[in-house]
Amino acid sequence: MAVILSGIKPTGIPTLGNYLGALKNFVKLQNERTEDKFLFFIADLHAITVPQNPAELRANIKNLAALYLACGLNKDNLVLFIQSEVAEHAEMGYIMQSMAYMGEMERMTQFKEKSRKQETGVTTALFTYPALMAADILLYNTDLVPVGEDQLQHLELTRDLAIRFNNRYSDTFKVPEGLVTKVGARIMDLQNPLKKMSKSEDPGDKGCIFLLDPIDLIKKKIKSAVTDSDSIVKYDKANKPGISNLMTIYSCITGEDYKTIEAKYVGKGYGEFKSDLADIVASEIAKIQDNYKKLINSSELDEILDKGRDEATYLARKQLSKAYRKVGLGRKK
Ligand code: AMP
Ligand code: TRP
Repeated sequence: MAVILSGIKPTGIPTLGNYLGALKNFVKLQNERTEDKFLFFIADLHAITVPQNPAELRANIKNLAALYLACGLNKDNLVLFIQSEVAEHAEMGYIMQSMAYMGEMERMTQFKEKSRKQETGVTTALFTYPALMAADILLYNTDLVPVGEDQLQHLELTRDLAIRFNNRYSDTFKVPEGLVTKVGARIMDLQNPLKKMSKSEDPGDKGCIFLLDPIDLIKKKIKSAVTDSDSIVKYDKANKPGISNLMTIYSCITGEDYKTIEAKYVGKGYGEFKSDLADIVASEIAKIQDNYKKLINSSELDEILDKGRDEATYLARKQLSKAYRKVGLGRKK
């Protein structure tokens, strides 16, 4: 049995990019690997490394929890929890900060990019973020971490910290592996296909599809996506980034490869392709929204999160106590 763990930050409403790049893959993994244990969490402590509006954050945490389940995860083989409800994450995060070097943290591309964007008021937590992420992973003897490509550097650091701890204090942590999915790895903005579709966009953004957008608006956004002017449905990321991105979305949802899609639209223009894609995306998201509506205000969601919190706490406490003991903290050997 392998332990598979991942987290998503509750910053904004999840997008079609989050769904195709992360959530849908979690569901697929869970269906394929029935022998394995799945832990997914809402990385709310990571969210506050940049300022958040408290009311919005509280709503986003709950929305994300409901959306994880609404996308089709099986709750019977799942520990779904909110990071801040398992205090061991912050505690183990501190142990990891005591293992990590300034130089290692300074090399993190995501920190460099985010602090450049932030300019003023870059928090110390934004800097030490990768140590908390290492803690998230190492608390559960995790084998596999499904993440986007942008997280691989953090995962490498997690491995380094685990190995360093094991060498210094004897074998304690399992050294985890990353799992990056190929297709759907990157969904681009519909208005600017050179930029990643991101949930940090303004909610009114036309280039970004949010999973809780009204279905009509989703269709409209697809139909008004930017494409080139030759009107030939062909996958060519370098020269035709707009249509290529739409084909990626099409392929991720239907499972058809690019050649099959190209063959289907020979002699037909972008209009017909976009109209079909609008229906395909709309029906996929409508299913998610139906499930979401049933869950969001239900006691079932709270029960799942309570159970997840309790199970995660049990596992995390064991691992944290072990790490404390090895380091020499606490009175008992
Ligand atoms: P974030 O929205 O950056 O917190 O990312 C949460 C998860 O969704 C990560 O696993 C990302 O790799 C994935 N993700 C975010 N945006 C996209 C996108 N545009 N295309 C594919 N995957 C994405
Ligand atoms: N840093 C990840 C992101 O930005 C979210 C995250 C936090 C995470 N802790 C994690 C992902 C542990 C996997 C495992 O997407």
